[in-house]
Amino acid sequence: MYRSHNCGELRETHIDENVTLSGWVHKTRDKGFVIWVDIRDRYGITQLVFDEDRSSSELLDRARNLGREFVIQVKGSVIERASKNPNIPTGNIEVLVSELIVLNESKTPPFTIENETDGGEDLRMKYRYLDIRRNPVKNNLIFRSKVAMEVRKFLSDQEFIEVETPYLIKSTPEGARDFVVPSRMNEGQFYALPQSPQTFKQLLMVGGMDKYFQIVKCFRDEDLRADRQPEFTQIDCEMAFVEQEDILDVFEGLTKHLLKEIKGVEIDKFPRITFDEAMAKYGNDKPDIRFGMEFGELNDVAQHKDFNVFNSAELVVGIAIPGGNSFTRKEIDKLTDWVKRPQVGALGMVYCRCNEDGSFKSSVDKFYDQDDLAKWAEATGAKPGDLICVLSGDKNKVRAQLSALRMEMAERLGLRNPDEFAPLWVVDFPLLELDEETGHYHAMHHPFTSPKPGQLELLDTDPGAVRANAYDLVLNGNEIGGGSIRIHDKETQSIMFKHLGFTPEEAKAQFGFLMDAFQYGAPPHGGIAFGLDRLVSILGGQETIRDFIAFPKNNSGRDVMIDAPAPIDDEQLKELNLRIDIKA
Ligand code: AMO
Repeated sequence: MYRSHNCGELRETHIDENVTLSGWVHKTRDKGFVIWVDIRDRYGITQLVFDEDRSSSELLDRARNLGREFVIQVKGSVIERASKNPNIPTGNIEVLVSELIVLNESKTPPFTIENETDGGEDLRMKYRYLDIRRNPVKNNLIFRSKVAMEVRKFLSDQEFIEVETPYLIKSTPEGARDFVVPSRMNEGQFYALPQSPQTFKQLLMVGGMDKYFQIVKCFRDEDLRADRQPEFTQIDCEMAFVEQEDILDVFEGLTKHLLKEIKGVEIDKFPRITFDEAMAKYGNDKPDIRFGMEFGELNDVAQHKDFNVFNSAELVVGIAIPGGNSFTRKEIDKLTDWVKRPQVGALGMVYCRCNEDGSFKSSVDKFYDQDDLAKWAEATGAKPGDLICVLSGDKNKVRAQLSALRMEMAERLGLRNPDEFAPLWVVDFPLLELDEETGHYHAMHHPFTSPKPGQLELLDTDPGAVRANAYDLVLNGNEIGGGSIRIHDKETQSIMFKHLGFTPEEAKAQFGFLMDAFQYGAPPHGGIAFGLDRLVSILGGQETIRDFIAFPKNNSGRDVMIDAPAPIDDEQLKELNLRIDIKA
């Protein structure tokens, strides 16, 4: 028996008991006549003691030779500690060791296994198994497991069936590139790894499964960010015989359940906003509504004066930064530089100070009097003491720029409180999105999303205006889930493919199986998928999903621990009938 108790378990009630513990040597303190060793496992830390009076000199010697991260087993008796440590649960006791076995030695770890480690990100990723021994990473993984368990509990209570779908498939378009896998048995042919199980879950509805879910890996070859990984996990769900309202209801229920069970937070009803409203009020389809700073459109009150920059702009729009009037001129100049950075891309920024006495002082006083500026304050909701920041230009661009400024200011002002949870449904997304570069429309959600009733005809005349039965769930400014009511008849699906630029032959070659299935009694259906990594990290009060993934990829999509991706040998290439030509 390796252990009678774990390293986080012993208390004063165990005093005088003989126990066996196994774990890692966390720390050793050698005072000559007495040696303390902290032994650690997943559950905690227990102090071991060896001393001249009570331990043999051989045992003392062996304790002295223990190195950091050695794996040991000890037997001994639980005794009361002379100087107690109130900071750890086992802090009132220690174990007086009578037997010590080294189960395995350890090289000195390349960084300290402490909450605040001296190891940089790269090093920690290379030795991720050591990083996982540290509390912050370990706790995140335990937290993730707890969230996944609660998801399974809630959905199975609602009679959802968990079904596994294949990983070696044909492309499922979700807007990213596919990762592909060459087939040895089918020369020159490739599988694609699923960007999501979208088509399969729809086929499960045709198969009569009625309520499906799966906690499933998805693969997308896209540029990486803090909230994106090339392989990530979805809580993928689909239901038959449902309308949008049914889906929102069930998955609002799931999210509420998680907030309550995991965070102890109760939220009554999630607010909803349309895509158009979200863009106008926040410049963003995933607004963080933990704080205000809503956009005030100023075209009516700022145009048709003598200020040409505004007169020639499609949109003049501002936000009020709470307390911003206290910024010095230098700080405002810096903020102007910030919005002019290429990442944000504004051409400039106009500002207006709202003085405590109710008067205004703007950077464009030449063109606007106090009455004009009072209207700016009204439109942006600015109060005395605030600073109004105004951007102008092309509508879509200027909204994105002001949204970036809004988020940056919220961050600087500490308004993005990670302990506060503000969910929001964004509904009525456009069905199609114009790709400015190619001039083509593509599906904003995916090609299987149904247009709102009666809007199919609009596809011919005004494709950009068609709204979809599509919705996103946003939590604290992050898109944690998205879904739609699907098309479930062949004809509508064919029309969609046509508008997305597929010839009938291409549509048949790529999605013939789905269109065929639609001819065998496909029920009306819809669903949603949550990003589990994102959901977990936000519930955990963070926004970097890597910290909640056991073995994540770095920003170049590499696993630096196993060194993947890597070349394969010629033999394997030959077997796969592949030849690699790398141009210098
Ligand atoms: P969507 O593409 O919106 O929908 O994806 C659903 C959710 O998955 C998460 N997500 C990601 N998380 C981490 N890294 C990524 N690269 C990544 N990409 C997406 C997001 C997102 O909201 N089949 C549809 C769902 C449906 O219609 O039912 C789909 O995949 O949190």
